[in-house]
Amino acid sequence: MKRIGVLTSGGDAPGMNAAIRAVVRGAIYNDMIPYGIKRGYEGLIDGDLYEMNASSVSDIMQRGGTILKTARSQRFMTEDGQKRAMGILKTFGIDGLVIIGGDGSMTGGLQLAKEGINIMGLPGTIDNDLAYTEYTIGFDTAVNTVLSALGNVRDTSSSHERTTVIEVMGRHCGDIAIYAGLTGGAEIILTPEREVDVDAICRKMIQGRNRGRLHNIIMKAEGVDISTEDLVTQIQDRTGMETKPVVLGYIQRGGSPTAKDRMLASRMGYRAVELLRDGTRCQAIGIRGAEIINMDIETALKLERRTNEELLALADILSI
Ligand code: F6P
Repeated sequence: MKRIGVLTSGGDAPGMNAAIRAVVRGAIYNDMIPYGIKRGYEGLIDGDLYEMNASSVSDIMQRGGTILKTARSQRFMTEDGQKRAMGILKTFGIDGLVIIGGDGSMTGGLQLAKEGINIMGLPGTIDNDLAYTEYTIGFDTAVNTVLSALGNVRDTSSSHERTTVIEVMGRHCGDIAIYAGLTGGAEIILTPEREVDVDAICRKMIQGRNRGRLHNIIMKAEGVDISTEDLVTQIQDRTGMETKPVVLGYIQRGGSPTAKDRMLASRMGYRAVELLRDGTRCQAIGIRGAEIINMDIETALKLERRTNEELLALADILSI
């Protein structure tokens, strides 16, 4: 029987457990033996893996994080680490590997693909920063978590007639800020893809104040090239309006996945199993429109992400 491995790597994301469940149960259904690899590539190097069965993934769908644990492995970046990882896969007779993680994790997998392992990449990251897929697993949950936080911040911001700068995650990608900012009615959205114009921000705030708007929510992605602290100081100095920072941090990475993320993870996980079963080589799994798609993983990772200009423009219009 074919043996396949599954691991989660990089930052955890809500929905990773649903993806693991789909891979494990999908593999069993298709007469394959699934192995769970702990702590991503770290566990692979250390041989920290175990055979999974249908019950290994019971009651995990609703849980945030990843039951397999995760890591950002420095050792796997070395030739020695890659050799060891390859050795473990050979020893256990595993020739297919499902990698649930971001672009760094998938890129790491290419080293194993060169040695003959059939790798499948599932986009597991809250950042939504992979060009080949419209959505990544965990993004929707993170956006909803930010949205809920934004609502709370708005209550107090409005009561005290203050401006609040909410910093959200996303690394170099502004999607969490755009989606949560647009749906939460933020007055200003700042993303790494667009240059920050502090004068324009202050102008908008002052014009708003002259019309009677006494509080503002500024949604700022972490990748923007001005620190939240500096931004708050500059705004306060120029407008004289009290401004506070809120850095949401890891709150965004945890929590029970939304139905959308669970569905995405289940569909993508099962697609990965089907591709391994059929012997299709080295694919990245994604979604476009309502369709689950797969494409050559190397090609997928080379695609360049475009800023969501349309949503940013809409957010600007709706927050006049
Ligand atoms: O990639 C997911 C992410 O949460 C990013 O948004 C953030 O920049 C980074 O991981 C934080 O990484 P760490 O868990 O290593 O602090």
